[in-house]
Amino acid sequence: MMTYTFERPICYLALLATILLTACTGPTERELNLPTTDLTTAALIPLPLEVQATNSGFALDEYTAISTAGAEDFADVGTFLAKAINNHIGLQLSTGNASERGALTVISLEQTGDMGNPEAYRLLITEDSIRLQAGTAAGAFRGVQTIRQLIPHTSTDTLAENPIWVIPTGTITDEPQYAYRASMLDVSRHFFGVDDVKKYIDLMVYYKMNTLHLHLSDDQGWRIEIKSWPRLAEVGGSTEVDGGDGGFYTQEQYSEIVQYAADHHITVVPEIDMPGHTNAASVAYPFLNGNGKKPELYTGREVGFSTFDTRKDTVYAFIDDVVREIAALTPGPYFHIGGDESHVTEKPDYNYFVERVQGIVQKHGKRMMGWDEIVTADIDSTAIAQVWANKENGEQGIAKGMKLILSPADRAYLDMKYDSSSTYGYTWAGLIPVDVGYDWDPEEYFPKEHVLGLDAPLWSETIAELDELEYLAFPRLLGYAELGWTTQDKRDWETYRVRLGRQAPFLERMDVNYYRSDKVDWE
Ligand code: ACM
Repeated sequence: MMTYTFERPICYLALLATILLTACTGPTERELNLPTTDLTTAALIPLPLEVQATNSGFALDEYTAISTAGAEDFADVGTFLAKAINNHIGLQLSTGNASERGALTVISLEQTGDMGNPEAYRLLITEDSIRLQAGTAAGAFRGVQTIRQLIPHTSTDTLAENPIWVIPTGTITDEPQYAYRASMLDVSRHFFGVDDVKKYIDLMVYYKMNTLHLHLSDDQGWRIEIKSWPRLAEVGGSTEVDGGDGGFYTQEQYSEIVQYAADHHITVVPEIDMPGHTNAASVAYPFLNGNGKKPELYTGREVGFSTFDTRKDTVYAFIDDVVREIAALTPGPYFHIGGDESHVTEKPDYNYFVERVQGIVQKHGKRMMGWDEIVTADIDSTAIAQVWANKENGEQGIAKGMKLILSPADRAYLDMKYDSSSTYGYTWAGLIPVDVGYDWDPEEYFPKEHVLGLDAPLWSETIAELDELEYLAFPRLLGYAELGWTTQDKRDWETYRVRLGRQAPFLERMDVNYYRSDKVDWE
């Protein structure tokens, strides 16, 4: 490691001159362990819309302040950034109105007028300031993730007492190409507690995803307390695949997840899967059952055997209570009704069911989402179909004016194995190595104007612990984050794999059990 002997602030100019000179004439920056000052080669995921480098450096150090003067909800974003910087490099930066404290350099969060896209932001990085401009706190929050990713993992030492972290200067203008960038956690086949979900949110956030879809019920377990139907959680939540103890979120715990997500500008989409995938509910309340058999707790993996009785009014009174209670705890605009693989529900019964449930979801102020099978019902254009298996269903949804979410199983299912050596995961949709998960074009499925965004689902039949969940989700989740954010013309596996390899220090610092694919040179 080289050292520098100048007093600040002159030292930075001298430091940068040294870097530039050395970079032009001598060994590479990497050999000298010097920080890069080329913003265009920063290891950002997702890659921003536009990056212009000015090839100098902003020195982040203990004399840097975070300024959020003016905008109220921007203050929370500033506090988040201060905490993230503290966790990352140990600096305790002050926040608030920087001009009152004689800070030498400043990161300022500035609210602008409408930038068009609510998640858009602009970063103007010079030698003495980083200005983050956004029209909304959500945009500022996305921009803050870019700042976090620009902070090097190691400091550059000077002979002055304080280390500095050099951030390359230039301008970034950025916004997402899709409004909906989700991952789904199946907490039904195996239950994952509040802290596990919060950690997943922390990781999604760093890569600018904005939606967490929770698959809260299935044949093997019902995972959310419903006060008007208490046996759902008490009985329906009492087991899981392979016979573990299961579990469920109390309403307070679910609200804690929703609040944590909201604090991180993440929307929660709750899913109650029906009329199939309902064995656990029917064990709790057998009048719901429509398959003619006595329901028993189920810990196997096969699906498609259960159904609600779609022709009983009491079933819809029950669903009204469930949707009402969950909708009241969920500020986001969506309620996901599942609707997949109802193999023992007669088609007319299935369609009748989906139509009635759409009315219930709308009555409680939410917009209905469902897996792509729902398009056969007579539903309106506000419904959203999540295409996982059947492209023709997606086309039928478009014909009805519906928006789509893309989760093609052979590209986007996080529970498919990477390769034949994978310990966890399935192969029914194929193997999905890291490059196959990343290297596809959503626009080859459906025209962009019909697509709200992408969801990478993580089904949990084969994973019971957080480290197993992380093995399947990481690093592939980062690829889906980039697919949702970055325009197709900017995406390229060869440049992505370099940026991906440079995520290793972050993933290790976060104690993530990611799969070290040999397709990537990990830092
Ligand atoms: C699904 O994978 N059954 C949506």
